[in-house]
Amino acid sequence: MAGPREKWNSRLGFIMATVGSAIGLGNIWRFPTAVGQSGGGVFLFIYLLIILIIGIPLMIGELTIGRRGQSNIVNVFKKIKPTRPWWLIGVLGVVTGLIILSFYSVIAGWSLSYIYKFSSGLFRTAEAAQAEEIFSSFVSHPWLPLFWQMLFIILTAAIVIKGIRRGIEKASTTLMPLMFILLFLLLFRSLTLEGAVTGLWWFLKPDLSAVNLGIILGALGQVFFSLSLGMGAIITYGSYLSRDDNIPESSFIISSLDLGIAVLAGLIIIPAVFAFDLEPGTGPPLIFITLPLVFAAIPAGDLFGALFFLLLSIAALTSAISILEVVVATFKDIFQQTRKKSSVIAAFLVFLLGVPSSLSMGILDDFLLLGFPFLEFVDFLSAIILLPLIGLLTALFLGWVWTPEKSLVEIEQHGVKFKLWKPWSIILKYILPLALAYILISGIAA
Ligand code: TRP
Repeated sequence: MAGPREKWNSRLGFIMATVGSAIGLGNIWRFPTAVGQSGGGVFLFIYLLIILIIGIPLMIGELTIGRRGQSNIVNVFKKIKPTRPWWLIGVLGVVTGLIILSFYSVIAGWSLSYIYKFSSGLFRTAEAAQAEEIFSSFVSHPWLPLFWQMLFIILTAAIVIKGIRRGIEKASTTLMPLMFILLFLLLFRSLTLEGAVTGLWWFLKPDLSAVNLGIILGALGQVFFSLSLGMGAIITYGSYLSRDDNIPESSFIISSLDLGIAVLAGLIIIPAVFAFDLEPGTGPPLIFITLPLVFAAIPAGDLFGALFFLLLSIAALTSAISILEVVVATFKDIFQQTRKKSSVIAAFLVFLLGVPSSLSMGILDDFLLLGFPFLEFVDFLSAIILLPLIGLLTALFLGWVWTPEKSLVEIEQHGVKFKLWKPWSIILKYILPLALAYILISGIAA
């Protein structure tokens, strides 16, 4: 509804909220899984390259669009370029957000339920077969996972309803420090396990002969997903920025923290898996089946297990609020509704869309799309196709429609200097569109 646009209270609040958006299931669940599946250090190396060449430049661009447009992701494009339908990027972003949050909330719901499972001692004596049995009987249950998913969505909506300062910023500045503490505690536990070093090497040493298109594609999707790029979350958070923030510097800080946390999560999970002679390449269930076995085998494992899933749930929550905020900010303006009503409607839509993802682990497990169960299909569709596609369109918009010269005027205010502007504009105009188009086309063709 009309009125002055909400703003972040402080720079620290903005950074915490955006880092909170970036750090999530992507870092702690998806990243170690991808490293495990693609054979170790090589993935990490390609991932780093893509963050530098594509991730950080695009984050700078998205924050700049947001701050310039000061509106929801449909209107920002209209404001900057009223004569052309570039605002359709925003529509695509809202749709992608609904899709991502629908399966995100399913996995986050599993994570919540694992806090409960560990606290009640369910894993105390779990052997391999049992941990698998606990996982599969839970996810194939007709309504239990739906219950946890709904609980997670309600928590998310409860924060978004309170708005930017009192909701998102406050939740992020409280929860993120707690998350960092938990992370270091678990890191210490994992690296002091006997046999952890083998895993450490496997994770950190790049074997460049193993590079292939699949790995590049996977790493690209992971960069978009992990940095919350390509669906308007960063644009939206940028729209609450004040003019004196140093956008390039903030982008660098946020991306580095996100990368750092992904690596730390890898350092928690992979050495532990190796220390117990387990398989790192098991895919999505890695942290729900393999990791609980590790916790079952160490002293006070119940406690560490519960803390790990608390960490994961907090990380997921601060990310989910950023996805829901994109949808809510847009619904609120376009349908002229209150924040409260828009949040409730968006949350309800997310839950409905998430039902098939949840059931795809049980009742609907025969229903495949392109050979994938529904949950893996929507994960693939959003991370590997929709996010890079929107990223490509955004780069074209920044490089050729709005132009880097005009972005520079927006970036360089209140004494901020953007020294790397020249390489940035070349990346936006040529390298990013060509690289994304190439990867997308060869990925879809393959
Ligand atoms: N980055 C978050 C994670 O790693 C997920 C996320 C939040 C996201 N906002 C997004 C992913 C926007 C894509 C687009 O878990």
